Amino acid sequence: MDSLQEKLKETTEFIQKQGVGEVEFGLILGSGLGELAEEIEDAKIITYDKVPHFPISTVTGHAGQLVYGTLAGKKVLAMQGRFHYYEGHSMQTVTYPVRVMAALKAHSLIVTNAAGGVNEDFKAGDLMLIADHINFMGSNPLFGPNEDEIGPRFPDMSEAYDMSYRQTAQKIAEKQGIPLKEGNYMAFSGPTYETPAEVRFARIAGGDAVGMSTVPEVIAACHSGLKVLGISCITNLAAGMQKSLNHDEVVKTTERVKADFKTLVKETLKVL
Ligand code: HPA
Repeated sequence: MDSLQEKLKETTEFIQKQGVGEVEFGLILGSGLGELAEEIEDAKIITYDKVPHFPISTVTGHAGQLVYGTLAGKKVLAMQGRFHYYEGHSMQTVTYPVRVMAALKAHSLIVTNAAGGVNEDFKAGDLMLIADHINFMGSNPLFGPNEDEIGPRFPDMSEAYDMSYRQTAQKIAEKQGIPLKEGNYMAFSGPTYETPAEVRFARIAGGDAVGMSTVPEVIAACHSGLKVLGISCITNLAAGMQKSLNHDEVVKTTERVKADFKTLVKETLKVL
């Protein structure tokens, strides 16, 4: 079997042939938040089905393409749609695009997602800066032999979400008049939404929001030495805190807050 490094060589060579040059920031756009990629200037678009070693994304509402270009003056490689563990992909597959970003020399990753609010002070439509996470997915993308050329066997996760990036994002939010909460993201495997009991457990454990993504990518980013900024869009209150949950509501809420979301990401990116 090819090593991760051999696969990465094939993928990056292909991506570079499509006109992708310098990458400063990787950007992962979650459920309903993909529209930001439309603002990337001089965009080069590569659909996932063309990229060597990329799987096909199966979730509706995800375009499934890489968009490269300039956003807020920075060279970005954005994922419009991500791969989820609940789709049946391995953790290594879910995090492969982050490895590609690192191989293309990105120094930072901005991750975004839709999440359920667990903190009782949150409401649907809030944006939450991710301060830290709890990996409750039952797996880890670093299981297996470690490739020392890529990162350490036991990565430090003391400041997975870069403190100075968080401070910058908070300052920008304040300046722009965008309310921005801050909290811990707790990741479940999905695809079921949590039960009310699981949500109570998440709250006791210190979670402020729950979701089904992001944590694998952030672990891979830390392992690869990328700085991370994470933003959740609280699309609903988690199970037990409201009547019932459905994906339509998630999509509708992101529609409502996407203007603020886009402004926050672009204005923050400008000064990072
Ligand atoms: N739980 C898990 N994932 C989610 C939720 C939720 O309540 N809302 C949006 N993504």
